[in-house]
Amino acid sequence: MKKIELRESDTCKNFSSYMEDEGLRAGMHELAADPFFVAFFLMTVSEGEGMGEAGVAAIRQDEVAGLLHDIERQQHEEAGHKTGTRDLAHKLFPEYFTNGEYRFSKRLTGAEYYLSVLEQNRRHLKERGRYSRLNLYLTTTFGYEIMVVLLYEAVIKAIATSSLSESIREACGTELRRILAEEETHLEIEDQHNALLAADRSKLSVQASQMLSALEDLEVDDYQWAVRASMDEIVRMMSRYAEPTAFRAHIESSPAA
Ligand SMILES: [Fe+2]
Ligand SMILES: [Fe+2]
Repeated sequence: MKKIELRESDTCKNFSSYMEDEGLRAGMHELAADPFFVAFFLMTVSEGEGMGEAGVAAIRQDEVAGLLHDIERQQHEEAGHKTGTRDLAHKLFPEYFTNGEYRFSKRLTGAEYYLSVLEQNRRHLKERGRYSRLNLYLTTTFGYEIMVVLLYEAVIKAIATSSLSESIREACGTELRRILAEEETHLEIEDQHNALLAADRSKLSVQASQMLSALEDLEVDDYQWAVRASMDEIVRMMSRYAEPTAFRAHIESSPAA
């Protein structure tokens, strides 16, 4: 059985130029200059992390999900990222919450981001005849995790060198670095892929075996494609902060949560 080589740290390096995109950089600058946007960003991250947590459930094949090494720890950590960023936003910026609810939650783009990339990957895999729920989960998660590592590193830097108050800079830096340290251990898709290929299929159901057969067709290119989709989408999303007046007006016109 052909093993896959994803070279996760090389992939991060290869895609790091996305963080140099002009629109994204301008957006990042505006984000780090306004507590309103920092709150919105933290809440968007919280929503996106929640999607990551739900991702594994989308395989809907318990035997295969059970073979995924370390998956429970990862789900647990993603849930922690979701609540950690939300609680931090609430603590630092209570003025944007009413009765504990973020006032502009209808404008958050974390779920929209995740679903858009997921659908692009689904289409791509189907076009190539390589679609299975497992293949979709692995490629989407890989792209998402690479994006998360690159984006959080860049945001940590932007906030650290911003004119935000010291207490905000420190609290955001600490939380985002804590998440990043855990995320870096999530970049083990290569190990998961290869362990699944090597799994003993003799005791598995037909459905589970079919998923593992479809996995044999999945190539490095499909993973790279997913990273590109993930990065293109994040550049689009972060560039919206580069028009701060219009973006803020759009967020503030949110219908009540
Ligand atoms: Fe996470
Ligand atoms: Fe993660």
